[in-house]
Parts: sequence; C-alpha cells; structure tokens
Amino acid sequence: MPLALGIPTDDEFQVFVPMMFEAMGGRSEFVNAVWPDGHTKEGQEMSVQRFLFLKQIDPSTRWSKVTDTDTGEILGVAQWNVYEDAKPQEMIVDGPPGTWKNDDEKEFAQEIFKSFMEERWKFIRENDLPIIALNIMTVAPKHQYQGVGTLLQKWGTDLADKIGATCIVEATVEGRWLYEKGGFVVQRHHLLEVPQKFQGRQQQRIFFMTRPRRS
Ligand SMILES: CC(C)(COP(=O)(O)OP(=O)(O)OC[C@H]1O[C@@H](n2cnc3c(N)ncnc32)[C@H](O)[C@@H]1OP(=O)(O)O)[C@@H](O)C(=O)NCCC(=O)NCCS
Repeated sequence: MPLALGIPTDDEFQVFVPMMFEAMGGRSEFVNAVWPDGHTKEGQEMSVQRFLFLKQIDPSTRWSKVTDTDTGEILGVAQWNVYEDAKPQEMIVDGPPGTWKNDDEKEFAQEIFKSFMEERWKFIRENDLPIIALNIMTVAPKHQYQGVGTLLQKWGTDLADKIGATCIVEATVEGRWLYEKGGFVVQRHHLLEVPQKFQGRQQQRIFFMTRPRRS
C-alpha cells in the first residue's frame, strides 16, 4: 500500500473525524468526556467545528495525515502543537453551548482534562522551548499495524530534530509502543484523577512520555 504524508485541508475534517472516533473505539474516558458523543453524527460534527476553531485560533496547531495514494483514502491523522517562541497558556477545555449535555458532564470533562494536563503543564513550565506536544494520533482500525502511525510520528520527530525541540505526549496503552520506537521514554504512568462524585466512571491510565531534544 503506497503511503504519503500530507497536511489535511479544512474540508477533510468531515472525512477523517469519524475515523478518529472509530480508532479510539470509546476506550479513552478522556476522549469520551472532552469530545463527547463521538459515536454519533451530531457529536462528530460538533468535534469537527471545535477542531477547526482551535486550529484557527491557535497558531501552534499542526495537523498531519497519511493517505493511500492509490485510493486517496485518509488512513490516519495526527495533531501536534509546536511551541517555538512562546509557552502556551494553561487553559481549561471549553466548548460552545451544547457541547456537553449538562453541567455535570462539562465539569467531568474539565476535571479529567486538568488531570491529563498536569504533567504537561509542569514539564512546559520547567523546561526550555522549543517543545512539541503530540495531542492526537489515530489510525483507521483496518489499517493499523501497517506503518501509518510510524509515518505520522516521523512527521513530528523529524520537525523536532530540525528545530531542536523536546517532544511530549500523554500516551494510551496502545500508543505507548509506537512512541517508544520513536525515542520517547515513559516518565510517569498514572490513572487520571477526578473528584469523588465521579468515582464510578471508567478509569483511564496514561503514560506521560518525553523525547529528548537532539541538537
Ligand atoms: C496507536 C496507533 C496510532 C498505532 O498506529 P499503527 O499505524 O498501527 O502503528 P504502526 O503500524 O506504525 O506500528 C508501530 C509499531 O508499534 C507496534 N505496536 C503498535 N501497537 C501495538 C500494541 N498495542 N502492542 C504492541 N506493539 C504495538 C507495531 O508492532 C509496530 O512495530 P514494528 O514497526 O516493529 O512492526 C493505532 O493503533 C491507533 O490508532 N490506536 C487507537 C488510538 C490510540 O490509542 N492512539 C494513541 C493515542 S496516544
């Protein structure tokens, strides 16, 4: 299968966002909370609009895609934030009205987001730029284990090596193996923490990983 790396257009978000949720398969409580209803058309459309909005307002945002050049199909996408000159503000996730079905769901999303971001914010506070953070890495289930994730990762690590950046990622159990092959090292693994009132929900383990700068 001939693979090519590229940059997705805004129109292509409609095409690949459903694939992203299919790849995550509802297994990440963080994704389920912060990007709700990804298994429905309405939830996917809401996420498309939020991704495009964030891309527009945050100049550090970079998306990459891998396409099968025979069919034109998008097989995988990744999203990175490249911080070269300015550190990001530590902002809690938010969304337009209707993103969450009630205040409780929004509070849960914001709490799990804070726990997810804790290590990242600390790392960015304590370390020099440039830093590249990997936020999203998804490959269509029927095209996994064929090198797509490796190619998507290479886009970011090649850029990191070019500009002398450290890379960071909060990996799922599945993503961890891919990143270790790309030179990332696990710094901490932990369960995301939420207030007592949300204790009944599915727990999620993440691996905070860093890849040292090569300069
Ligand atoms: C994680 C993911 C992006 C990997 O993409 P992929 O295209 O299947 O990865 P590749 O084919 O490039 O495989 C990379 C290497 O990691 C290994 N690997 C991938 N997943 C693995 C797993 N669960 N266990 C052990 N090894 C694994 C592969 O064997 C491969 O090693 P090799 O090059 O020696 O053969 C993909 O499985 C996915 O989308 N998962 C669901 C979403 C997710 O969890 N994303 C990560 C968010 S942090």
